[in-house]
Amino acid sequence: GTTFDIAVVPGDGIGPEVIAEARRVLQSVLDAASVAVTWTEYSLGAAHWVETGETLSEATLERLRGHDAILFGAVGADPQDTRIPSGLIERELLLKLRFSLDHSINLRPARTYPGTATPLAGDPEIDFVVVREGTEGPYVGNGGTIRRGTAHEIATEVSLNTAHGVRRVVADAFSRAAQRRGRLTLVHKHNVLTHAGDLWRRTVEEAAAEHPEVSWDYMHVDAATIHMVQDPARFDVIVTDNLFGDILTDLAAAVTGGIGLAASGSINVEGSAPSMFEPVHGSAPDIAGRQIADPTAAVLSGVLMLQHLGLAEPAARLEQAVHAQLAEWARDPEAARGLSTAQRGEALLARLG
Ligand code: NAD
Ligand code: IPM
Ligand code: MN
Repeated sequence: GTTFDIAVVPGDGIGPEVIAEARRVLQSVLDAASVAVTWTEYSLGAAHWVETGETLSEATLERLRGHDAILFGAVGADPQDTRIPSGLIERELLLKLRFSLDHSINLRPARTYPGTATPLAGDPEIDFVVVREGTEGPYVGNGGTIRRGTAHEIATEVSLNTAHGVRRVVADAFSRAAQRRGRLTLVHKHNVLTHAGDLWRRTVEEAAAEHPEVSWDYMHVDAATIHMVQDPARFDVIVTDNLFGDILTDLAAAVTGGIGLAASGSINVEGSAPSMFEPVHGSAPDIAGRQIADPTAAVLSGVLMLQHLGLAEPAARLEQAVHAQLAEWARDPEAARGLSTAQRGEALLARLG
């Protein structure tokens, strides 16, 4: 049969700690399903840059293009390490991957798990997905500084929104809404960002005409943060731009049980390059190297990867195992307290048998 060819980029900080657990449990469910897989590890990140000066060379990028998918940990140098310019690895490795591999859909499910607690009163059941644009917006790096360091300094960042880019993310969001509860919310800030906001609104109106089964509404991003805390169950599919989606999905993670649980997929919808699966969280320098990071987000990103590769059965088995394990730890918090990253992975492995 087919052998799935996966690239692994563990990255910095807690990235390698959580990816090690994700790989073990993925290997276990794939073995059980007799699915062959090869893992090719790429030691990219802050340490690699310090050693070699490479963030992501064209040659490495070409090799990455050849894989079926990429499992990505997290990047971002320890701010104590003054050798590494702030944001360098994020921009020249992570964002370069998302842009070069045309990861137009940054898919970020936000849900609660049976039996688990949220920080919200009454522990509401939450189940929505943020479809975040992944290759445009203020992330394009089209800004500049003039008269730097003077009292007359001017700094700009340009938010780029193309009809093509907005249309494909909106189309994807409508398709997902049609498969879910048929509700879509466009989040933007068109009261202030009039040009981009207008393009997004017209694009949604046009897509809505083709999807009468989906009802949609509009929310300014500031108000969206209120509703996400006060009534998150109202959301089904949120479609939004790159920066709003970044901010909203950290909040979404926090209200659904924590950043340690939030998974994502950076999807190339056209299939012209491999998609990438990564936790929403970063390299967490404040807890790195201590084996206390929660590997669940990395594991659930692995579930998204299996689904994307068409491996529905092992994906469902792993997802079920995660849900059952989270429910057990929620019932018996004493048993969960103080578990290391590896012990959390081992608990899942034991459950998978
Ligand atoms: P972060 O997500 O790394 O950490 C925020 C907080 O959440 C920290 O207190 C951290 O300890 C905690 N946390 C994160 N993941 C956790 C886990 N799995 N288990 C338990 N606690 C967890 O965000 P930050 O502190 O803003 O950024 C740190 C670095 O990571 C920066 O360099 C940033 O640019 C980078 N970053 C990278 C990615 C990525 O690679 N996809 C995402 C976000 C941030
Ligand atoms: C994320 C991260 C990245 C982003 C950073 C590290 C560039 O915060 O994946 O959410 O802003 O997209
Ligand atoms: Mn983020």
